[in-house]
Amino acid sequence: LTVAILAGGLSHERDVSLRSGRRVAGVLRDQGVHVEVLDVDSSLIPTLEAMRPDVVWPLVHGSTGEDGSLQDLLSLLGVPFVGTDATGCRRASLKPVAKSLLAAVGVATPVHVALPQALFREVGAQRVLAAVVARLGLPLVVKPAGGGSALGVTVVTDARELPEAMVDCFAYGDVALIERAVSGTEVAVSVVDTGDGPRALPPVEIVTDGPYDYDARYNAGRSEYFVPARLDDPGAAAVADLAVTVHTTLGLRHLSRTDMILDEAGTAWFLDANVAPGMTETSLFPQAAQAAGHPEQLYLAIVRAAL
Ligand code: DAL
Repeated sequence: LTVAILAGGLSHERDVSLRSGRRVAGVLRDQGVHVEVLDVDSSLIPTLEAMRPDVVWPLVHGSTGEDGSLQDLLSLLGVPFVGTDATGCRRASLKPVAKSLLAAVGVATPVHVALPQALFREVGAQRVLAAVVARLGLPLVVKPAGGGSALGVTVVTDARELPEAMVDCFAYGDVALIERAVSGTEVAVSVVDTGDGPRALPPVEIVTDGPYDYDARYNAGRSEYFVPARLDDPGAAAVADLAVTVHTTLGLRHLSRTDMILDEAGTAWFLDANVAPGMTETSLFPQAAQAAGHPEQLYLAIVRAAL
């Protein structure tokens, strides 16, 4: 069995992706799988044609990797690959699209507006931001409509902080998603489907003494994790249900991770769906897989499901 892991790429999450790729490669090699980790660049097509892997596992995060571009290319090449197809990737990676599709089936998700950068030039930043605060209130979360790892994300408690938050956000993409902040327990639930239907892995609870930003995600010891999350039975059922609903509603395949907030009333609020969840030492999917038991068998089952 030969697996080509695609990692790196040109997104802002390049370094995270390389770490994810190395880690998954290590797990699969320990299972006797022949694995090559390919840094995605212009040599990708000839390299894959020469290598002819049995299956490709795209672990490029953010743009290109999670927006369906890479998956379109793999489909054109006729190579079997792990994870969601291009259409599902597009549904999941554009947060305003995912939120609308999920709200339509009754999922709770924070009220939001999506603002293209061009609007600020046409209408003027002050007018736009005043309208946003009038509509959504405070506090708000400003984030790029695509992309991950909390890059360009700011929690805004005072309207005077909004202009700077927008500048940070637009450094990572030209559409901003501004959401009303929801308070509660931050939980991530991974879902796997290796042929017998989607099932939720144990929920991971994230506790940080500041924002769960890039630094808090990828530097060991900056965040505390509880796996399984410290939830009562209805809370545990609500977060698992939400993750499975997201996986099926958005048409995701093999594996996904849904990030959410469980509020005090027991409602799970959808924030984000990840088709190529981080696989680094501090990432959430590997912690959930570890808690579920026999993670190496799970990774192997995911690969086999894609053959
Ligand atoms: N976007 C990063 C890789 C994650 O969500 O894990």
